[in-house]
Amino acid sequence: MPLDGEFFRVAAPLRVPSMGTEHVSFLLYALILMLRPKSVLEIGAGYSTLFLSQALADAAAESHQDQLRLKEAVQGNDRAQILSDSAKQDYSPRLYVIDHLGHPKTSAGSVPTALGQLGVDGFTTFIEGRFAGASRQLPSAALPLDFVWFDCGAATGAGTTFLNEYWPLVNAEGGLVAFHSMYVPLYGAGTGLGGMKVPSALLNEIRKQLADAGREREFELLSLVEPHKRVQGDVTIIKKLGKLSRIRGRPSNRMPRSSGAVRGNSRGSKWTRPHLRGGWRCCGCVAPATRLPPSSGTARS
Ligand SMILES: C[S@@+](CC[C@H](N)C(=O)[O-])C[C@H]1O[C@@H](n2cnc3c(N)ncnc32)[C@H](O)[C@@H]1O
Repeated sequence: MPLDGEFFRVAAPLRVPSMGTEHVSFLLYALILMLRPKSVLEIGAGYSTLFLSQALADAAAESHQDQLRLKEAVQGNDRAQILSDSAKQDYSPRLYVIDHLGHPKTSAGSVPTALGQLGVDGFTTFIEGRFAGASRQLPSAALPLDFVWFDCGAATGAGTTFLNEYWPLVNAEGGLVAFHSMYVPLYGAGTGLGGMKVPSALLNEIRKQLADAGREREFELLSLVEPHKRVQGDVTIIKKLGKLSRIRGRPSNRMPRSSGAVRGNSRGSKWTRPHLRGGWRCCGCVAPATRLPPSSGTARS
């Protein structure tokens, strides 16, 4: 079942406006269908959990259809023509959800019933408790984690705790972590310049590590910010780069320092790269003592 009227009838009561996941939940749904992760983890449950579970059910159904098309592949089957060998593999995904149900406004407690009403509860394992230390409760089949949605105070110490424990468990070959709310109000909660937001100390630290790693980087990062929100209005996606996705080749031409635009060089044959340094200055804040631990992809102590 795609996201239809019945889905929204069941999901609507779990949508808590102050949680701010009304749009990002659709993004998560689409990402799951695109990436077909086998093992998904959500920390911080509620409205988004329904989209993740439904996405896994829909991706599994689509995978099944693809396998049938490949078996019956006849000339002129447009879908079969674009499928890779990976579409031949059986796809039995699973979502693990961790929440201690302690937030006064959370709808996490209603998730199991709603999943049952949608008929997608068979894809989900709910672990009730604090996320710190809970990776030990994940079965070995859950590792490595292909897709993680962290919606539990990422810009606070929780984000650091999470990264130190869970980052080594993320699949080294393209595993992805999406964080909600990695941006913070510029001059503290409730004040400042009409609600302008900046990367939190933790996000800044991660971006510094990325910049320092240069061409040797083992992950990439994208933040999408909802300009109309003061808080709960951004998602930062960090993806581990598999060996085949790393940067290849010799350094390309540098742009002049002052320019921020991408343009062709004077001969018009190559693209020079945008110069991205110098636009954003850290305020000198001290980031939490986090270094992303080395990623083994499967390691578990
Ligand atoms: C922002 S809400 C999640 C919103 C949800 N993703 C949605 O779309 O509605 C954060 C959730 O994390 C849970 N939580 C907060 N701290 C936690 C912790 N240390 N361990 C586990 N769960 C926690 C809360 O109970 C709450 O349900």
